[in-house]
Amino acid sequence: MLVSTPEVPPEGDIVDPDFLPDAVDLDRPNVARIYDWALGGTANWAVDRQYGEQAVQAFPLAKTLARSNRDFLGRAVRYCLGLGIRQFLDLGSGIPTAGNVHEVADEYADDTRCVYVDNEPVAVAHGRILLEEEGDPGRHAVLHADLRDAGEVWEAALATGVLNPDEPICLLSVAVLHFLPDVTGVREAIRDYRTLLAPGSAYVLSHATESGVEGEELEQIRRLVKLSERSSSPAVSRSLDEIAEFFGNFEVVEPGIVPVGKWRPEPGAATVPLASVVGGVGRKPGGRI
Ligand SMILES: C[S@@+](CC[C@H](N)C(=O)[O-])C[C@H]1O[C@@H](n2cnc3c(N)ncnc32)[C@H](O)[C@@H]1O
Repeated sequence: MLVSTPEVPPEGDIVDPDFLPDAVDLDRPNVARIYDWALGGTANWAVDRQYGEQAVQAFPLAKTLARSNRDFLGRAVRYCLGLGIRQFLDLGSGIPTAGNVHEVADEYADDTRCVYVDNEPVAVAHGRILLEEEGDPGRHAVLHADLRDAGEVWEAALATGVLNPDEPICLLSVAVLHFLPDVTGVREAIRDYRTLLAPGSAYVLSHATESGVEGEELEQIRRLVKLSERSSSPAVSRSLDEIAEFFGNFEVVEPGIVPVGKWRPEPGAATVPLASVVGGVGRKPGGRI
């Protein structure tokens, strides 16, 4: 179900302790806020930072992995722009930090459109502030919703007037599906989005895995998954085959579903020696672009 619109915090310190959007849970570390901490953001609380420090103990390169995932997102968005796609629906978009989808897209072309979706009130509130400051209401919107409600999210995204369903859209679920086990209905939801997208649309996915992960990193990712049981969203790592199923009949482009740092790296970029988050991009067959 779509949930209520969180209020926008007052200007100033974005972690003003007097401002808390309704429904913010400060009793448990929250995945959106932990990820914000890992990327060097400030929209996180002590409970999130303490958890983050434990995550780094479990997986010493956790921040590198978060950054590598975020960099993958930017490269995948640019790749889709290069295909001619100008619209983006970003599921589990997170608390805005540098390199948000609309920023990457706006650098590339001035006619891009983006709708963000997240179920964490802090992420949505900060997304709204950012877009009020630098967005264009005709081209950008934020929805407070659970991505598993595909039909409702789709209707709400179209109701913003930002997206044209007759033209290709790039759907993103980057570093979010591993917080949603199959029993939650996530597979059916992603299938529904795939069906709703116009031919030529793209799907960008990244996901935690143990497939192809060896040695210390394997032990570390297992420790991280175990630790996540204490957070608001326990993680599930899926095998490569299980991850590939999210693409359905979409054609996965080269180099396939690979560690995020190895997905079309920029020439000369430093190698990231981590394999426990993989990513890929698929295309819906039959498009004109
Ligand atoms: C690790 S962050 C990833 C943020 C961004 N996609 C990225 O990769 O840079 C995961 C985000 O997914 C959101 N999320 C988790 N479960 C969700 C759900 N069921 N519906 C919508 N958002 C969800 C969290 O609140 C969080 O902001």
